[in-house]
Amino acid sequence: MAIFSSDTSPGAVQNVGAGGAKGAEPPSIWRLPARSRALEQALNSGEPVLALAPMQDVTDLPFWRLLSEYGGPDIYWTEYSRVHSTSNIDRAVLKAIQENPTGRPAIAQLIGNDAEALAKAASELQGHPVVAVDLNLGCPAPVVYRKCAGGGLLREPERIDRILGAMRQAVTDVAFTVKTRIGFDDTEVFETLLEIVARHRVDLLTVHGRTVREMYRSEVRYGFIRRAVEALGCPVLANGNVYSPGRAEQVLAETGARGLMIGRGCIRNPWIFGQIRDHRAGRGFRRPTGREVLDYVRRLYEATQPTAGFRERLQVEKMKKYMNFVGDGISPDFLHRIRRATTRDEFFTACNDHLDHERPMDLVPVPNVALETSAETVEETCG
Ligand SMILES: Cc1cc2nc3c(=O)[nH]c(=O)nc-3n(C[C@H](O)[C@H](O)[C@H](O)COP(=O)(O)O)c2cc1C
Repeated sequence: MAIFSSDTSPGAVQNVGAGGAKGAEPPSIWRLPARSRALEQALNSGEPVLALAPMQDVTDLPFWRLLSEYGGPDIYWTEYSRVHSTSNIDRAVLKAIQENPTGRPAIAQLIGNDAEALAKAASELQGHPVVAVDLNLGCPAPVVYRKCAGGGLLREPERIDRILGAMRQAVTDVAFTVKTRIGFDDTEVFETLLEIVARHRVDLLTVHGRTVREMYRSEVRYGFIRRAVEALGCPVLANGNVYSPGRAEQVLAETGARGLMIGRGCIRNPWIFGQIRDHRAGRGFRRPTGREVLDYVRRLYEATQPTAGFRERLQVEKMKKYMNFVGDGISPDFLHRIRRATTRDEFFTACNDHLDHERPMDLVPVPNVALETSAETVEETCG
């Protein structure tokens, strides 16, 4: 059964007829406000939209820039900006959207639980070069969900209803989007959530197919993403564990989603968006060699240094966060050495020893071991 909105609140372009009248199929053309034209074009291009997942402390301006040099996604999400009654939009987020060097549209994400404050922040964000304002309903970090924000909100659907109502009223110039998980402890809330999303005419929903409790470890439950696609009139992006062009095709086929959002897969393999495009165009795709990955790590080191004089030790620590994803499956010794490195020299000696070769690299982290390793490192972060 499909769920369609009958809400007449301002702020949404009239897509209801287009989606609802045709039954469960999404509308062939999805309309958005004029300032979201680039997103509208991507959604209506006939090709799946490839989006960069929001990742706290990762998807900042330097990472966007570097990713764009490898082909990059069609849409760039910011990391989240925390909202409460006296907050301002995060400076790093503002810098990314104001200086966006990618040539592609940006979506800014907010996290919080105060409907009025979120509406105010969303309204303010519209004054900046974004094609949409996104609400985070997925963060599993205890420090966030205990305050009933991010994934914590999935325990209080009435509050989500109020927040979406307020934000929908406030976001009139660009699209209003939501990124969610499929529940908190279990998936009971999911149908109610879809009804709320439809009622408030959300323009685009991204579904990470895990509950909050499942963090990053479990299998992704793509059936729930398919359910969202079938139930909603708006486009849906599928998120979770897309590491290769083959997997991308499977997830698209399994979910029927309008596109894919990719997170950890592109930290590990910044070529992934280009690989998916090549694969879909029937051109085949290249796996990077060890030496190409080594070059990427060198560029990441330089690109993400806040200033030239940034303390070496701090930059090495910063690199360890990315390397948890890059290093999965290379060899246990590699990540062990990386984790112990305290100087640039130690760090790159380990990289050279393991990556200075011409063999193609695995795109997919080693099952379980890799996901467990990555999960431990992201457990205190969001999504
Ligand atoms: C380091 C890290 C930080 C994250 N930060 C956010 C965030 O700020 N907002 C959000 O909605 N999701 C966040 N997520 C979740 C991702 O957006 C994504 O939903 C999740 O990683 C699953 O996709 P993947 O398997 O492609 O990585 C984060 C994930 C990671 C690994």
